[in-house]
Amino acid sequence: MIRVESAHDQVNVAKVYEANQEQVFQYWDELGVEERRRLLAQIATIDFQEFRRLAGHITQTESDDEEGSSLLRPAEMIPLATTPLQLQERARARAAGVESLRNGEVGIFLVAGGQGTRLGFEGPKGCFPLLPISGATLFQHFAEKILALKRLYKKSMPWFIMTSQANDEETRSFFRSNRNFGLPTSDIYFQPQAMLPVIDPRYGKILMASKSELLLSPNGHGGSIRVMQESRDTLEKYGTKFLFYHQVDNPLVEMADPVFLGYHILRDSQFSSKAVAKQVPEEKVGLFCLDGETTRVVEYSEIGEVEQNEREEDGRLTFRAGNIACHVVSTEFVAPDDSAEPFVMPYHIARKAVTFLRDGEEVTGTDPNSVRFESFIFDVLPRTRNPVVLEADRAREFAPVKNAEGADSPASSRQALISLWAEWLEAAGIEVPRDENGQPKNRIEISPLVADSQEQLTAALEEWDLDPSKTIHLR
Ligand code: UTP
Repeated sequence: MIRVESAHDQVNVAKVYEANQEQVFQYWDELGVEERRRLLAQIATIDFQEFRRLAGHITQTESDDEEGSSLLRPAEMIPLATTPLQLQERARARAAGVESLRNGEVGIFLVAGGQGTRLGFEGPKGCFPLLPISGATLFQHFAEKILALKRLYKKSMPWFIMTSQANDEETRSFFRSNRNFGLPTSDIYFQPQAMLPVIDPRYGKILMASKSELLLSPNGHGGSIRVMQESRDTLEKYGTKFLFYHQVDNPLVEMADPVFLGYHILRDSQFSSKAVAKQVPEEKVGLFCLDGETTRVVEYSEIGEVEQNEREEDGRLTFRAGNIACHVVSTEFVAPDDSAEPFVMPYHIARKAVTFLRDGEEVTGTDPNSVRFESFIFDVLPRTRNPVVLEADRAREFAPVKNAEGADSPASSRQALISLWAEWLEAAGIEVPRDENGQPKNRIEISPLVADSQEQLTAALEEWDLDPSKTIHLR
């Protein structure tokens, strides 16, 4: 066993040996004092008990993921409101949501700990300059939405931002250098999620990123549940009853949507989700399903061919409630009092191609050469009371930035923003010039500080004199 001075380090080193992972000290003799300190500090952040449980069950976890889906039914989804009765129910939900917002019961929880590999942007995804005219970042756009909410409801609102070890410092310093985009520092809570070692599946051994660094990956967006649990005191301080959960990649998110909150409240739910209707059977989206009596998200790879293609009489897909990872979470569920047993999230494994160090040389994989462990927030569903699934209009609420180009890219996301704003302008009586494909001819950008809904824009426009034949930038 390697020799270390402090009792704290000795305990951590012993954990490494107990887990049969002593190869992580393979380069120990070559390391300087500072590098040794860094390696030990990194090791100290790892929950080895959890890691051993996961690494020991790789095959079992995989077969869990492929559980049969023969007894599936579509989960109930509250449809987009069209009938008078639905509109009435929606209005009741909105009123309940507005009341909760006015009472200051709502906090915002942003998950921004992902690695954004598909986008390939250097830096945290929230720092991506997305807005069509100003080039404002995703973080700024969300901050402005929150500022607008605070002005509207006149309540302070905690904003939890889950980062990861890889992007925490950069995220914080980005907010610092932008003076939190006008939000008070005391209302923003950065919290890095836990990281877990990436392993070589052939030997079950932790891979090294360098001689003094393990290869780690964030533990999935399900890591947010632990962060919420750890934020119990803050939630109590604000009197937060509901957390509005959203992802960093969707600028169209209807932040703290009162209708969504209201359904959650009126149906006494602990975990609510927004869904958009899946359009074609092949679309790769997780679906809200009933498995027996339990609601859960079934991944696209898990769903059978029959279910995938089944259609209703009107031609719509039967299994169509596509998960867009926007939720309301009751704090009484995630952060009950101290005495409650904290629940443990299940893990899934992902195989990815990574670069790592083997015998002092960098090895770059093109085929998946590693296994990592991720938990998914929607895995709480089977444990929650009255889960609500509310349909959202895809064009108005969902345009994620995932890829560098093509579908779900910055270009498609910008286009969706422009289309939404054009629709708002037209509803306010402004004639928006459109091209032969029906797309707005000019770029449009409306800061949430001016308006973050069609109604707000109509009211705001009384003070503006717009020339719709030009680029429209309201801020
Ligand atoms: P994605 O599943 O799109 O993953 O995350 P990603 O890491 O951002 O991107 P790729 O797959 O590497 O291209 C969906 C949301 O969940 C957050 C992301 O930041 C994003 O808001 N997330 C994901 C975390 O906060 N932590 C994680 O460990 C994974």
